[in-house]
Amino acid sequence: IHTIGVMTSGGDAPGMNPCIRAVVRTALVNDLRVIGVEDGFEGLIHGRFRALGARDVGGILQRGGTILQTARSTDFREPRGQREAIRQMSNAEIDALVVIGGDGSLNGAIKLAEQGVPVIGIPGSIDNDIYGTDMCIGVDTALNTIVDAIDKLRDTASSHNRAFLVETMGRESGYLAVQAGIIVGAEMVLIPEESVSVEEVAKTIERAYLRGKTHAIVVVAEGFTPHTNELAEKINALDIGFTMRVTILGHIQRGGKPSAFDRLLASRFGYHAVQFLLNGQTNVMVGLDGRDMVPVPLQTVVSKRKTLSVEHMQMAKTLAQ
Ligand code: F6P
Repeated sequence: IHTIGVMTSGGDAPGMNPCIRAVVRTALVNDLRVIGVEDGFEGLIHGRFRALGARDVGGILQRGGTILQTARSTDFREPRGQREAIRQMSNAEIDALVVIGGDGSLNGAIKLAEQGVPVIGIPGSIDNDIYGTDMCIGVDTALNTIVDAIDKLRDTASSHNRAFLVETMGRESGYLAVQAGIIVGAEMVLIPEESVSVEEVAKTIERAYLRGKTHAIVVVAEGFTPHTNELAEKINALDIGFTMRVTILGHIQRGGKPSAFDRLLASRFGYHAVQFLLNGQTNVMVGLDGRDMVPVPLQTVVSKRKTLSVEHMQMAKTLAQ
């Protein structure tokens, strides 16, 4: 291997930049050339490449987003798009590819691996829903953003004796909501993994009111059904004591400068991705297992579902009194 490509793909996550930096610098020290692929798989198909040197990744450790830009590509899902991507890589003499992204991106990486391109995946997604790694790039920063936002909402909720439904991201995973629930002291957490009736939610909020609380915070994962706004309408039709407001945190959760934890995690992922390539370990994702960086076969990563910690779900309920 002489030249490696590096790309970010799918939804961005704070910490992608430190990861790119680590890939580039580790590769250069080992006499590899690095080509940055812009706009994820979309850019791969269209040959949007630029050489990356050590200085090109200077001053980006603290920057949110991704200097390589990212995209969700529909064309790459088709065999034609994949063939074109491989042709572009071969023209640019890219021998191996490091893909930083979430579930969809790692599925894309497998398509290349199946066609003979050595790939390494790095888990980057605030959702923390990727099998084979304890943590993904961006999760810690997103949680810090959520905590900051909910702390502020609690202030105004208390002043007005209100209940708030606060929606967190996470797609089909309740990970962010459960963690947030524990660390902000939410009265209730609603996640797609557990069904709860509207009446139960209303009762829990009412009980908080009757216990004399000045506010109630319910963290709702975006994948929970019914959706947050619909849930709010249904609860509003019942008597819960508090008046209620809804806040959808949205894409603010994906922005901001990466936390210390994310910078370190991302740097470790990037460093080890190149080490794995140099050791001939390809078609794997770098996973965090306890304290260790381990190679996890990409096929395993995409075929298994990450489950939530039952202990954490239990803890969120126990502490919400
Ligand atoms: O996967 C990350 C994520 O932020 C999810 O939590 C969310 O459902 C989705 O991406 C939003 O995607 P988009 O940025 O395309 O609206």
